[in-house]
Amino acid sequence: MARVAIVTGGTRGIGRAICERLRDSGFTVVANYAGNDDAARAFSDETGIATYKWDVGDHQSCLNGCARVADEVGPIDVVVNNAGITRDGTLHKMSYDDWHEVMRINLGGCFNMAKACFPGMRERGWGRIVNIGSINGQAGQYGQVNYAAAKSGIHGFTKALAQEGAKAGVTVNAIAPGYIDTDMVAAVPPPVLEKIVAKIPVGRLGQADEIARGVAFLCSEDAGFVTGSTMSINGGQHMY
Ligand code: CAA
Repeated sequence: MARVAIVTGGTRGIGRAICERLRDSGFTVVANYAGNDDAARAFSDETGIATYKWDVGDHQSCLNGCARVADEVGPIDVVVNNAGITRDGTLHKMSYDDWHEVMRINLGGCFNMAKACFPGMRERGWGRIVNIGSINGQAGQYGQVNYAAAKSGIHGFTKALAQEGAKAGVTVNAIAPGYIDTDMVAAVPPPVLEKIVAKIPVGRLGQADEIARGVAFLCSEDAGFVTGSTMSINGGQHMY
């Protein structure tokens, strides 16, 4: 029977590319999303992938949502923690709410999903967790103390949980994307984005599927000895 994979924030952007890539690799995929019903409907119509709506920043919603997926589709073998938001602004303009929402969703979501799925993976002796971090969690970024802190936290979370999962056959890895051609990056003011792209050695934004291919490798049998690692996919913008 095909293994079951869930991708948070899976109906758009990088998440969508990950869903499609994992489906093409033989997983039964479901996509979680939080808000955009129209995008979720279009995604489902176009891909045939089922969607489940809840806020990954809410602990109980994750427990309930994952239990529902396990009931309706099967035990969850793969979690891709991709859901994330930005609330950019320099510290002196950033509200507590901007800080807290980014921490709650981007970092809290990883904890909540792991709490829901990691115990079952351990019991069954196989699991894959892939957390989507960011170049900006590795290098920092002007105007992103909240996002950089959350993404940096994801990298620490990954290394700690990897140690807990290793003996039980559960690998935990991170991918640190650079600037990828998505709605999130399109929201960066054009003159700022131009300067950022000028510093990418490969000379362009990344494509969502370039991240998805890395995720598919980390979720495969071939990656059984890879755990606690961070794969940077950033066009050479930050060499870590
Ligand atoms: N380093 C140093 N100074 C900088 C700077 C930088 N990188 N960027 C801007 N500044 C300076 C500006 O030159 C300006 O200085 P002056 O007033 O002396 O001219 C000052 O900071 C204010 O800059 P802005 O006009 O840009 O300020 P703002 O308040 O209007 O906007 C901002 C601030 C919201 C942070 C805006 O600069 C911005 O959106 N930056 C991009 C942030 C970014 O890269 N976000 C990534 C989103 S995508 C993502 O996060 C995905 C991923 O994982 C990669």
